[in-house]
Amino acid sequence: MTLEMNKYLQVRKSQAQGARTIEELKEISDIVIENEEELKEVDALIKSGCKCKNVAIETIVEAVKNGADTVEKVGEVTKAGTGCGRCQGIISNIIENKR
Ligand code: FES
Repeated sequence: MTLEMNKYLQVRKSQAQGARTIEELKEISDIVIENEEELKEVDALIKSGCKCKNVAIETIVEAVKNGADTVEKVGEVTKAGTGCGRCQGIISNIIENKR
């Protein structure tokens, strides 16, 4: 991962505010994506839900659709959020928005 920390945090924060696509990320934040390589990294990051446990957003959304309605339940089913805990805001947002 060569994405600068500032951009990494912009993506993670935007995910917790509901961004699931690059388009939504650009609407929510003022991120500037410099080049193709950075675009690829941002795209990979925005698809990632929990970095510690390597759980995709898609997997968390699936768990929520299948009835996991708290951060704890999502953790039981997917392990997401059970490491450093920094992705729990993203998980909460997924539960809230069901996406
Ligand atoms: S990023 Fe999910 S627990 Fe650390």
